[in-house]
Amino acid sequence: MTTPTALDLERLTGCGAKTRGLDVRSADDATIDAIRQAIFDHGVVFFEGQTLTPDDQIAFARRLGPIVINRYFPKTEQWPEIAKVEKTETQTGNIGGGWHTDHSYDAAPAMGSVLLAVQTPPVGGDTLFADMYAAYDTLSPEMKARLVGLVARHSSAHIFGERGAYTHSGRPEMAGNIDLPEAVHPVVITHPGSGKKALYVNPTFTREIVGLDAEESRSLLDQLFAHAINPRFVHRFSWSPGSMAIWDNRATWHYALNDYQGHYRLMHRITLDGVPLAA
Ligand code: SIN
Repeated sequence: MTTPTALDLERLTGCGAKTRGLDVRSADDATIDAIRQAIFDHGVVFFEGQTLTPDDQIAFARRLGPIVINRYFPKTEQWPEIAKVEKTETQTGNIGGGWHTDHSYDAAPAMGSVLLAVQTPPVGGDTLFADMYAAYDTLSPEMKARLVGLVARHSSAHIFGERGAYTHSGRPEMAGNIDLPEAVHPVVITHPGSGKKALYVNPTFTREIVGLDAEESRSLLDQLFAHAINPRFVHRFSWSPGSMAIWDNRATWHYALNDYQGHYRLMHRITLDGVPLAA
């Protein structure tokens, strides 16, 4: 293990941090360790001007951790490790257009994603990121006490399964799948890389808080969801080709805005494998 070097990082409003003057292709091992720790600590780290080929992106992602292939996203023809997050000029629905954190329906949810902008619309197509450390920290002491010991069920079927949400949002090819995992995780986790507590429920995949009646579960989840998207915890990132974000799914939510109808947007996403989560 090398000693992490100091990264030149600028804290951003709401959520995340941005690197300055770094070409990830030439990062040494200490810098890779520092990037990984920055992702754990800040939830999302942004990079500009990364003219990476698919092979470069895969090689860089592998240095951060093992890659896991998303079950549902279309893949880049030659590189199955790279999911294509694409919207054409004629499509109406986008991918990821609602608050979520990736793979929370898995028993060991993905650690994070490395998203590289390949082609961006002239205006629009930003992504929102919300800080789940801040969301947890700012809960009232009463709410924190209420969440102790609670676990929630996360599911993929209502999004990616037969008649899943993508069927009705203009991207039917993303639904109709049969491999549809679900998992139970603590509502508040201790992040395995930072040791900080984070709120770990999300509006897209979390279905219920286990053991509460349906109404109480819905009401508690709705309160948490409304709290978590306070603008104080949200950063809006504008992409241009070569921008790259690496987010930590255990510490953030994200939301791809769909406000660029008639224009093309292509992002290359690599997902990094995670570990089971604990309170
Ligand atoms: C995603 O949810 O992975 C897509 C994010 C984006 O396209 O901005």
